[in-house]
Amino acid sequence: MFDRLLYQIAKPALFAMDGERAHDITLSNLATIANSSFACSALAKLYENKVEALPIRCMGLDFKHPIGLAAGLDKEAKAFNSFSALGFSGVEMGTVTPKPQPGNDKPRLFRLVEDQALINRMGFNSGGLDAFLENFARADAKTMEHTIAGINIGKNAATSIDDAHYDYVAALQRVYSKAGYITVNISSPNTKSLRELQNASYLDGFLHHIKQAQDKCVKVHKRKVPIALKVAPDLEESEIETISELVLSHRFDAVIATNTTIARPGGLKSKNAHEIGGLSGAPVRDASTEVIARFYRHLKGEVSIIGVGGIASADDAWDKLVAGADYLQIYTMFIYLGPIVVRDIVAGLAEKVRNLNCETLAEALEQARG
Ligand SMILES: Cc1cc2nc3c(=O)[nH]c(=O)nc-3n(C[C@H](O)[C@H](O)[C@H](O)COP(=O)(O)O)c2cc1C
Repeated sequence: MFDRLLYQIAKPALFAMDGERAHDITLSNLATIANSSFACSALAKLYENKVEALPIRCMGLDFKHPIGLAAGLDKEAKAFNSFSALGFSGVEMGTVTPKPQPGNDKPRLFRLVEDQALINRMGFNSGGLDAFLENFARADAKTMEHTIAGINIGKNAATSIDDAHYDYVAALQRVYSKAGYITVNISSPNTKSLRELQNASYLDGFLHHIKQAQDKCVKVHKRKVPIALKVAPDLEESEIETISELVLSHRFDAVIATNTTIARPGGLKSKNAHEIGGLSGAPVRDASTEVIARFYRHLKGEVSIIGVGGIASADDAWDKLVAGADYLQIYTMFIYLGPIVVRDIVAGLAEKVRNLNCETLAEALEQARG
């Protein structure tokens, strides 16, 4: 009961503030908790320990259930232990860029409450890799045994698109030994030209550089860290086909679908709907599920798919899993519903598995996908 009440009490105060300020205050509290094993275990008792087990395999990694935290909330790896204690089975930190950079001018994060959405144009505000790794060194090794740490990497704004691979390779090499998996983010709408990396003319060479770096790291560290490519929801069918072919030929481990959208679906009610940036939450849900389904048709289960975009309930999560996702992440609806959303979604999914008379989620999905 208290676990549900806690966010209901905190939310009005947080929502009365500017979005980024509310984010910074919350994250700073979670960072303080992350550094105290006593506080973390108290938080885990309220949240993590009450989440049902619903194991699922994705990119060759075993997650204890299918709900992870999407990138962008903990950009500097300040609160891994806390997000684990809130119940996520995976925590994707970043996007981190090689060098520190301030990001775009404020304000740059807007709530669209009537639409259950956010618009952000943060622009990879980042303390850079040094600060990121220093923070992440405080993450608890024991926690990483049951909560998988994803590290999402990007390029600095000052790096040209032709030189982008230098930034990604540098970042990949530095985070490799620390990461459970690495995400190559080429789909943020808030860094000029970044999404052009998704075009065939850049993508083939770009993926080649990343794959080469991964292969070298496998030899050096004697461990394969899977690499996921994060894509936009605003892709044409022909682009999805090309990206799929390249992801398969370069043997990438996963596609994360999707990032925020630059589209503004009709019917948005909030006064902030005209703000420039990436839209997330409920309005991107169906577009992202459609992109997952299209990738699944091309990837045929040979490359894992991580589904993200507007998930608020077990039904939303189920739709994305049936469309072809192997694992899921949330961001925006975690802001609107609070940490209890993880337990509620996992409980709802576990019920669906039982209703299908299946032992595991994988078995239920095989049945549901037909
Ligand atoms: C404020 C904000 C910042 C974000 N920053 C990043 C980021 O740095 N890197 C990234 O790959 N995605 C970022 N995202 C995108 C999310 O990870 C996610 O892909 C997207 O919001 C769709 O999921 P959702 O509807 O559950 O939020 C950000 C989203 C929001 C709302």
